[in-house]
Amino acid sequence: MIRLTPEEKEMLAGKHGAAARKSMEILVALGNIFGAGTLVPVKSAQISGVSYHNLGDAGLEYLSELAIDGRVRVRSTLNAAGMDLKDWKKLGISDEFAKKQLMVIDAFKKLGVEITATCTPYLAGNTPSFGDHLAWSESSAVCFANSVLGARTNREGGPSALAAAIVGKTPCYGYHLDGKRSAQVGVLVKANVNSIDGFSALGCAIGKKTGDRIPYIRGIGAAGMDELKNFSASIATYGGCALFHMEGITPDKTRIPTESVKITERDLDSARALLNDPDCEADFVALGCPHASLEELGAIAAMLDGKRVRIDTWIATSRHVLEQARKMGYIEKIEDSGAIVAGDTCMAVAPLKGKFRCMATNSAKACFYGRGTNGFKTRFGSLERCVKAAVEGKWRA
Ligand code: F3S
Repeated sequence: MIRLTPEEKEMLAGKHGAAARKSMEILVALGNIFGAGTLVPVKSAQISGVSYHNLGDAGLEYLSELAIDGRVRVRSTLNAAGMDLKDWKKLGISDEFAKKQLMVIDAFKKLGVEITATCTPYLAGNTPSFGDHLAWSESSAVCFANSVLGARTNREGGPSALAAAIVGKTPCYGYHLDGKRSAQVGVLVKANVNSIDGFSALGCAIGKKTGDRIPYIRGIGAAGMDELKNFSASIATYGGCALFHMEGITPDKTRIPTESVKITERDLDSARALLNDPDCEADFVALGCPHASLEELGAIAAMLDGKRVRIDTWIATSRHVLEQARKMGYIEKIEDSGAIVAGDTCMAVAPLKGKFRCMATNSAKACFYGRGTNGFKTRFGSLERCVKAAVEGKWRA
């Protein structure tokens, strides 16, 4: 059984209010299931389960009840919402959906959560340091925080991340412990990987081979922030991986496993084939999964400068990065082309089912959720190829 401090016992007894009691009940139950000895204080929480599309009225009711007397005790940021929170009409969102989504946001505001509405909190001011304990949900952000930043978080669900935010602590088990962060399987990459879509396909290929084991990946010469962001999203989606080690790139020390698998050009080709539906002509281009960085928006703006898109094109990003990009003149160039910069949301959490048939993207994760959540067929390729498809109005050259 988990050991509680006197203050934690008081919370569980309801002496700090109903929201704190409910949150402690969740954390104690989780801690007992996973054999945690104690709760550990967290530096921040990243809370998913924001889109009204996924929450529905039951989720809204739960949040509204917590917000009656609940207040977060640590810095807490929010995952992507179901719409652009400032300009949802440009996305074709109905007034009815917008009203409910804003009620969800209002409940989070009352709880003291920052309305960052992004899956890349680390690009929006919530950037953990090495060794920080966190309670983050959103699989791509969890994988990035654990692996690239060397912070420590389990893959929380929305309710447990929110409970941790309200208590300021999370059960100490799993990735919070040194002994649970060692690599479990070696991966030797014998392929040339040097683009965002290349890292996305690589995450898919490795995830399919190694599952949720912690890989120690060798053979990668260099990887930039955007490449690691996409890789984290992809390996988390296709393998359930929450932590990877990449030789010479990620900061955690680990033992090197004896068992090893190889990833070859053929594996990458298979991953690309898996992500491409044959005979599907793109009628939607979706970029920014995970949410686009300033550098990605700059690259897209340069490619679209002076051009017009011929099919619906969304670039998803956080409000934080969007405002930076506006100052740089990127947003104007993108919007002048007819493409939409979708702040606060993305193609997976917005209610897009039935609106498009075939989505072109440079993100393996977007393919997974575009198919699963919205029933799209998918085309997968480089950023350049996706932008070309948007401008030419067809995927095939
Ligand atoms: Fe982010 Fe949406 Fe992709 S929440 S990781 S852009 S599916």
